[in-house]
Amino acid sequence: MKEREKVLVLDFGGQYNQLIARRVRDLNVYCDLKNCDMTIDEIKEYNPIGIIFTGGPNSVYEETSPHVSPEIFNLGIPVLGICYGCQLIAYTLGGTVTHAQTSEYGKREIRVLKENPLFKGFPETSVSWMSHTDYVSKAPEGFDCLADTKAGTCPVAAFGSEERRIYGVQFHPEVVHTEYGENILRNFLYEICKAKGDWTMSGFVEEQVAALKKKIGDKKVLCAMSGGVDSAVAATLIHRAAGDNLTCVFVDHGLLRKYEADEVMSVFKDKLGMNLIKADAAEQFLSKLKGVSDPERKRKIIGEEFIRTFEKISKQIGAVDFLVQGTIYPDVIESGKGKSAVIKSHHNVGGLPSVVDFKEIIEPLRDLFKDEVRRVGLELGLPRKIVMRQPFPGPGLAIRIMGEVTEEKLETLRDSDYILRDEIAKAGLDEQIWQYFTVVTNSPTVGVMGDFRTYENVIAVRAITSVDAMTADWARIPYDVLEKISTRIVNEVKHANRVVYDITSKPPATIEWE
Ligand code: XMP
Repeated sequence: MKEREKVLVLDFGGQYNQLIARRVRDLNVYCDLKNCDMTIDEIKEYNPIGIIFTGGPNSVYEETSPHVSPEIFNLGIPVLGICYGCQLIAYTLGGTVTHAQTSEYGKREIRVLKENPLFKGFPETSVSWMSHTDYVSKAPEGFDCLADTKAGTCPVAAFGSEERRIYGVQFHPEVVHTEYGENILRNFLYEICKAKGDWTMSGFVEEQVAALKKKIGDKKVLCAMSGGVDSAVAATLIHRAAGDNLTCVFVDHGLLRKYEADEVMSVFKDKLGMNLIKADAAEQFLSKLKGVSDPERKRKIIGEEFIRTFEKISKQIGAVDFLVQGTIYPDVIESGKGKSAVIKSHHNVGGLPSVVDFKEIIEPLRDLFKDEVRRVGLELGLPRKIVMRQPFPGPGLAIRIMGEVTEEKLETLRDSDYILRDEIAKAGLDEQIWQYFTVVTNSPTVGVMGDFRTYENVIAVRAITSVDAMTADWARIPYDVLEKISTRIVNEVKHANRVVYDITSKPPATIEWE
């Protein structure tokens, strides 16, 4: 297989580092985000067509801050430094970095001072996003100052050397607030690194299917399908390569949304012809959850029952050669970092290896960001409805019913959630809002219906915008849409007489209520 062209994004700890990598990939160039402590030999071995230094929270003058060996600039590989990365280039090559009394944060007008390949196609002035305290006050010897800020805050907002193909920008080209940010990245990739742009999802599918065919041959593969995007795309990709040698198992724990289990069966078994086994385990899960109201205990029970159910089925299937995992690139990046406190014990299929008799794990999506997984799904012909599906937690509706999970509350939840999804779709908001669902709050309130007093559930609507689920803001759904949602829920759903809208961000709240 011919080697794919790659850009190396060296991570200096900035908050937008994954975004830089996603932007580069969106411009059809493959890149990896790697820790900034990579050695010169490792970089040579990786063989990138260009290197990007990300921003970071440090100052180049602190001893403990990450630095680079000057050797990196003698490899003949183009370099682009962003924010801290820009200061680091200046510092390492003999320019001057100065500490400002106040930080500069937000939109600034920058002026291009000299024609150069990085700013090709730029107007004389444009808006860029700044977030820094230190700044470059003098470019290194042999480098040109390419831009400054109109307000005079950054005398060297960008510098570079066309001959050495090394550039630094103080602002953040990766964020949308930088008007011509995409142009900076595109110019770096195509004008300076001379990229061909060979990273496309159709190319990825073709390459992966060929590689998987070779790897799998006529061996047996097992995949746990949750109905979520990642496992659906992973299974479909493997199915292309392995056909009937792939068996998928779908555990219906009875905590799924309205019509969800039928939809999974109809798409993957009936339409795509996959060898898909459904385990009907609703009664088993509900009986184990009876009387349990503590959120962590609910999660633990569901996680354990899931594994037990899968164990039973995998015993019937017997030994397999490969077990599929829907790991995606952000998981790969995160797993290289430290562990933070457990806020909630997440349930996913990570616990399965202990109960399946298999030889090797395959992770066909481990190089992809979520938006790329979605594009691969569309490329494979999966329905848009499945591919654009919002995230859904492993423990399902159980963590959206406060207190004990009962069949009656599940019905109230499913019906209200279905109305919410319907109205959000009708309003054309379904692909703008990251996640939206209803919650049965377990706090009945008094209402009046006709001439009668009611004492029923409060239904909470939760709808958030986010880029990675680590932080979230509540979605500004228009009032008239909220009104329709509320009216329909109280009229059409049994045991619901009031609707409230959750207007809390994460942090301090979390996205789910439990
Ligand atoms: P929180 O509530 O922690 O949710 O802000 C962050 C994101 O994770 C989803 N979530 C889960 N996903 N297993 C999963 O696979 C889980 O146990 C789980 N709990 C929460 C949640 O829906 C949101 O997208």
